[in-house]
Amino acid sequence: MIISDDNNKNNNHKGASNGAPKCKSQDLETKELEFDKTYEKNIRPKTFDEYIGQSALKETLKITIEASKKRNIPLDHLLFYGPPGLGKTTLAGVIANEIGVNIKITSAPALERPRDIIGILMSLKGGEILFIDEIHRLNKVAEEILYPAMEDFFIDLTTGKSQSVKTMRVPVPKFTLIGATTKAGALSGPLRDRFGIIHRLEFYTIDELAQVIKRSAKILNIKIDDNGAKEIASRSRATPRIANRLIKRTADYALVKYDGKITQKIAKEALDSLCIDNLGLDNTDRALLELIIKNYDGGPVGVETLSVALGEDIRTIEDVYEPFLLQKGLLARTNRGRRATKLAYQHLGIKYLDQNGQIGLFD
Ligand code: ADE
Repeated sequence: MIISDDNNKNNNHKGASNGAPKCKSQDLETKELEFDKTYEKNIRPKTFDEYIGQSALKETLKITIEASKKRNIPLDHLLFYGPPGLGKTTLAGVIANEIGVNIKITSAPALERPRDIIGILMSLKGGEILFIDEIHRLNKVAEEILYPAMEDFFIDLTTGKSQSVKTMRVPVPKFTLIGATTKAGALSGPLRDRFGIIHRLEFYTIDELAQVIKRSAKILNIKIDDNGAKEIASRSRATPRIANRLIKRTADYALVKYDGKITQKIAKEALDSLCIDNLGLDNTDRALLELIIKNYDGGPVGVETLSVALGEDIRTIEDVYEPFLLQKGLLARTNRGRRATKLAYQHLGIKYLDQNGQIGLFD
């Protein structure tokens, strides 16, 4: 399908034609900071039955948990990887609850000094779960303290200085480490090899997200119909954390502007007003694609350049924005950098010109 006959290459950036209103840059980040942690805690599922989605992983985990109970040994160390917001921490909490043990939650940047990781390992009780988020950011020293702890449940402590240095082998309780990362590839080989189960968390389908939304709405006493839930689901970037944020904001809108019940019409209006388009892209997603198209002729362009131009750090672009754009087929990664796909042009309502400057056909 030809979507435009205006082939002026330098003037082909018409902005969104995707149902989103003309969106001026709006500070969604700030709104996310306002998000109430207690709210998130209240709607977090606590059992496998309550936890929606990731069914293959759930089945594997149920069997592993059952087997470890029968053998009366702690669960194998687990590594979860995948984009943020898909429920890695939530799942770790569910596992702890299903086994009936305590979970200690930390993240790699908080384990900067050797004494941080030693302290937390020594504070564990038998069978407990240690959850380390962003585990790919663990420093070398912390990793090396962790290896014998994971493998044989001891740590080597050193005391004294230079000639009088002594090493003591100290046992730590048998524990299960659950590591979470958005970048499995950035984990060192030896650390990765010490996990018994390594599993990727998948993006959610719209049906799964609609179930998450209806469940959360029920807990929060928010009235929503099926189509309202589907509308929010389809704009939630396949991510439950985002779905849960959007329900709250849509509920606020429904309450202030209408009678409080979320219908499809109200959800559409509310999300349009937040500059979240019909694919779930926000201003930054669109700015990223538009930048590649407008300034770099569709790419390829290096992520470092995009980072400077957008004022977003590389890690945020790679971990937060790109996975969903890649999954939606709007962005492609090549070894020469990022490229906007034809679909991105189509979504943004920008005509696509092929290498010969001809109007391209959309597949
Ligand atoms: N809230 C966030 N993630 C969830 C999930 N996977 N199932 C149910 N509720 C959720």
